[in-house]
Amino acid sequence: MNLILMGLPGAGKGTQAEKIVEKYEVPHISTGDMFRAAIKEETPLGKEAKSYIDRGELVPDEVTIGIVKERLGKDDCKAGFLLDGFPRTVAQAEALEDILSSLNKSLDYVLNIDVPREDLEERLTGRRISPTSGRTYHVKYNPPKVEGICDEDGSELVQRDDDKPETVKKRLDVNIEQQQPLIDFYEEKGYLRNIDGGQDINKVFEDIEELLKGLHA
Ligand code: AP5
Repeated sequence: MNLILMGLPGAGKGTQAEKIVEKYEVPHISTGDMFRAAIKEETPLGKEAKSYIDRGELVPDEVTIGIVKERLGKDDCKAGFLLDGFPRTVAQAEALEDILSSLNKSLDYVLNIDVPREDLEERLTGRRISPTSGRTYHVKYNPPKVEGICDEDGSELVQRDDDKPETVKKRLDVNIEQQQPLIDFYEEKGYLRNIDGGQDINKVFEDIEELLKGLHA
């Protein structure tokens, strides 16, 4: 099962990825998570990525392509993978084609989680995450059982730095600009499947499960 999860910031990629990984047991490769881990560890990659992420901009293609290439070459990706948030530009999509062909792999689907922009700002500014378990919540749409506390490990939930209202607008603008050429790229190749991400979280997952039935048989 070789999948890409695509969608604007806040579309629900991370939320659906948690469910896909749990059910289908494929490694979750999120470039955003990889950058955040590098920032936390204060590595050279983290220092470089932070300067872009804090401004709501994309990390340069050559940096991002390099880390994905290394990750996809690892043993746990042999039976499949779930890419989340990569590719985000046509240059990244073209580089991914080369990486996959060098590994003798091909894509199954590109799942495009589609949500109108007007819903995204509220989703992003209301998002809370656990810094230790990595679980994602929303103050209104997906609250924890106890306010401000992670259900899984009891940690105190925090807001991502790039979810502050001033950064959110810029992130959405930057990603909207890149989105259509990427959709066209994968539509033309026949991989694109649109998922209505404006529904309840569990209903979105049901639609994904339905689509993946053929692959998982
Ligand atoms: P990344 O971490 O990938 O952020 P993003 O794409 O901006 O996506 P998000 O994680 O913000 O949103 P999501 O779609 O995962 O939504 P979620 O499930 O959390 O990247 C961060 C940064 O790293 C980028 O800005 C960029 O700088 C850099 N970067 C990463 N990849 C890169 C690349 N390939 N190239 C260059 N730079 C790159 O949901 C959001 C909220 O909504 C949550 O609170 C959730 O509970 C709620 N929610 C989810 N689904 C629903 C629903 N159906 N109904 C109601 N609420 C919902």
